[in-house]
Amino acid sequence: MSEPLTEQKRKPRILSGMRPTGRLHLGNLMGALDNWIKLQDQYESYHCVVDWHMLTTDYAETADLQDNIWQMTADWLAAGLDPVKAAFFVQSRILEHAELHLLLSMITPLGWLERVPTYKEQLENIKDRDIHTYGFLGYPTLQAADILIYKADAVPVGEDQAPHIELAREIARRFNNFYGPIFPEPKTRLTPTPRLPGTDGRKMSKSYNNAIYLSDAPETVWKKVSTMITDPARKRRTDPGNPDICPVFDLHKVFSDQPIIDRVNRECRTAEIGCIDCKKLMVEGLNRRLAPIQQKRREYEADPQKVWDVLDDGTVRARKVAQETMGEVREAMGLVRK
Ligand code: TRP
Ligand code: SF4
Repeated sequence: MSEPLTEQKRKPRILSGMRPTGRLHLGNLMGALDNWIKLQDQYESYHCVVDWHMLTTDYAETADLQDNIWQMTADWLAAGLDPVKAAFFVQSRILEHAELHLLLSMITPLGWLERVPTYKEQLENIKDRDIHTYGFLGYPTLQAADILIYKADAVPVGEDQAPHIELAREIARRFNNFYGPIFPEPKTRLTPTPRLPGTDGRKMSKSYNNAIYLSDAPETVWKKVSTMITDPARKRRTDPGNPDICPVFDLHKVFSDQPIIDRVNRECRTAEIGCIDCKKLMVEGLNRRLAPIQQKRREYEADPQKVWDVLDDGTVRARKVAQETMGEVREAMGLVRK
């Protein structure tokens, strides 16, 4: 017998998650959002605002959490994620995530968690707060619950998250071995990430204070870019430079048209173009990219409730799937009286 039509027609599913850090910057756009937008036609998409994950590190500072959720979701919408095609929702609104996290924690060996590279790294790097907590160690198990509860076929992430998805696969396998085949093993769908430097040349990041935000007005963008570091060899206007080591050129490669990129690549080396003019050209391309995003964002700023409505609607859609899965999980684990 053939499968029911709805099963046959089901698009593969993706689940993605982002920590609610507030307004998004260019690195978030190129590193994740743009990719999600490309995938939303091919996949049944679920986009989760992972506020509980935020608490694993920022548990002591929650005053801005709701505003950060709003700001980030507004940027998702402004950038072109479509809330009709994809379900947007807040993790903590779907309690089933917590239930699955608890159940998965029973079968997740401690060694698997301690071996996750981001775990040791963060323990070493984060010194301004104490993350030697139960919750922080369990971060990847919570992430596995986010993914598995939707039976996601794939998870679009950057390279740094690949070990977490691998762990989710291992947890799914272990679960299926104990209790029967409930969870598909999610694939990692690696996002190609161009190197996107911040204004100081380091990786663009909110915590480095070097980010250009999607919602930065043209004046703000220019203020940030005009002080951006360039090839230090160009002390005077007449000194030739090397675009290959200049962060401004990295941004050209992402935001400028090919003829401009070619011209800068040539004229920087011969000192025909100065850094100020070069930056102006880059900012033109960048603002051209940001203008429609900012225009769309204004719609939501004028009526903030719209963003909450999108999250409410997405929550209803996501919860339905999560509840279905949890019904199967409870039964498979022997938690239901027959
Ligand atoms: N750990 C991810 C990050 O820091 C966020 C995240 C939480 C996530 N749950 C997820 C990503 C599920 C993908 C799928 O970026
Ligand atoms: Fe960088 Fe442009 Fe200056 Fe060359 S001209 S050093 S690419 S800012």
